Amino acid sequence: MSYSMHTHTCGELRETNIGEEVTLTGWVWHRRDHGGLIFVDLRDRAGVTQLEFDPEVCDEATFHEAETIRSEWPIMVSGTVRERPEGQNNDKLATGSIEVYVTNIAVLNTSKTPPFQIEDHVDTAEDVRLRYRYLDLRRPRMISNLKLRSDFTFALREAFHGSDFLEVETPSLFKSTPEGARDFLVPSRMQPGHFYALPQSPQLLKELLMVGGVERYYQVAKCFRDEDLRKDRQPEFTQVDVEMSFVTQDDVMGALERVFAEAFDRMGVHIELPLRRIQYWDAMDTYGTDKPDTRYGMELHDVTSIFSASKFKLFASAAATEGQFVKAINAKRAGAWPRARIDRLADVAAEFGAKGLAYIAFREDGSVTSPIVKFFSDEEMAALRAEMGVEPGDLVMFAVADRLHADEILGGMRSHMANELDVPREGHDFLWVVNFPLFHWDEDRKCLDSEHQPFTQPNEDQLDLLDTDPLAMGSHTMDFVMDGYEAGGGGMRIHDARLQEKILEKLGFTPERAQAQFGFLMNALEFGAPPMGGFALGLDRVCMLLAGADNIREVMAFPKTASGSDLMSAAPSEVTGAQLKEVSLRLL
Ligand code: AMO
Repeated sequence: MSYSMHTHTCGELRETNIGEEVTLTGWVWHRRDHGGLIFVDLRDRAGVTQLEFDPEVCDEATFHEAETIRSEWPIMVSGTVRERPEGQNNDKLATGSIEVYVTNIAVLNTSKTPPFQIEDHVDTAEDVRLRYRYLDLRRPRMISNLKLRSDFTFALREAFHGSDFLEVETPSLFKSTPEGARDFLVPSRMQPGHFYALPQSPQLLKELLMVGGVERYYQVAKCFRDEDLRKDRQPEFTQVDVEMSFVTQDDVMGALERVFAEAFDRMGVHIELPLRRIQYWDAMDTYGTDKPDTRYGMELHDVTSIFSASKFKLFASAAATEGQFVKAINAKRAGAWPRARIDRLADVAAEFGAKGLAYIAFREDGSVTSPIVKFFSDEEMAALRAEMGVEPGDLVMFAVADRLHADEILGGMRSHMANELDVPREGHDFLWVVNFPLFHWDEDRKCLDSEHQPFTQPNEDQLDLLDTDPLAMGSHTMDFVMDGYEAGGGGMRIHDARLQEKILEKLGFTPERAQAQFGFLMNALEFGAPPMGGFALGLDRVCMLLAGADNIREVMAFPKTASGSDLMSAAPSEVTGAQLKEVSLRLL
């Protein structure tokens, strides 16, 4: 590809180019005056090239320009590629063995002094970075994150296309159909008092595409959810959304695995197929989470039976109560921590729902530190040591609760301790978690809520539990877990209108509300809807993990802050009275 303003990029020139006349464009990164010689690192998206201005080689005007240029000015230079003098190679740079001996310079623009240095390893407050995102994006790390995202999205598109999927776009202005989070609403000018909602996902539309005979659909889709933000959550994010019809769950998972393996392979990441599958309750009981990072152990153990006759009332009464458990994890090396530090872990456990944190610290000298050990018999201690594989330096922590809460408390502690102890987590970890419960109990609203979504197909052999024990029902669901993050989720859908009605009724929808919100879906199901299932990959999260970043903002060009603002444009912002009037709105 040839361009009229430059012959090469700043990342391209090598020893093989020595002697060539070249023209480069880019930004002045660093400029150094070395006793009559001026060196400039010229930076563009592709890399950096060292320029040398020598008054013996370039004319006076060019040398004078080189004296005046400052950081972040865009320039165009022409000159000859030459080998760097002996001992001046820079091994860290791809172009480090050459430099361009400049004969001509054109200053394309000037620049104000940037509010922060355009460097990867400079700590700049994130709000400043976001206010000047266009400068932040010039940092090599950000450019490489955007490139990674572009490459991965392209690889996915190629893999889906190659597997006969059609990319179909669905509308962003659609109906408000709550899917768990709050909707972003858009008032209609033409129909006063009526609103569109921005889609939380294309879920219902992709089901309608299946009814419409598309058979294999995918889309790189923008999704919008008005929910509290976290480091892996943005109000506006991207899913690679997929749906298939006339398929079983194994067909969907098999097709996805092949596409993922192909796309990840293009990023230099190998996925071993078939991907491991873990049942939801096995993941919960073993790792305390439905998105386990299995690159390290520290697994949960059920120690209830050890304490059935214990003098420690809390454990003994849990053991005697149906549905209550005593569970434990063993954090290696934390047993050497000072007592005050161990005691502070109770506050961490409280964040995961614990009322306190019972523990035993096994000291290196063979002693134990623990508020509860005095209640334990020698037999109980021996059984506990054997079950937990105790060695000197271990910290055993307990949770006493029902199955789900005991799992969640220790799951939270497991991941907290892994971070605190800097437990190595090498490479990437991929697996499926399958067979999620169909419902969970919503304590706030005192009703059943969908674990995944209201359109999920229940396990057929458990349909009779719908009226007797709905919380015991499993479902045709799968989450794709990468490095301990929920990287995607999906499942089979209900394609029978009666069953869909019944599930909505269980979720507390009156027939009128179900009809008003989902009537269009239920109508469609009555026109020969095929068996169908699908999935959505959280593109931002996967790119974050591939880039080794710890926040999805690092792989998004223009992300929002925790309070949902765009600091660059100051959105959201007020609008004029006339604009409000146009859409028939008045502020309270
Ligand atoms: P779900 O709600 O699980 O499923 O979303 C799928 C994946 O999208 C990503 N994700 C997010 N990423 C960034 N910011 C957010 N706020 C955010 N919310 C979700 C996660 C998640 O696993 N329609 C179903 C999919 C299906 O069943 O086909 C859905 O949206 O990585």
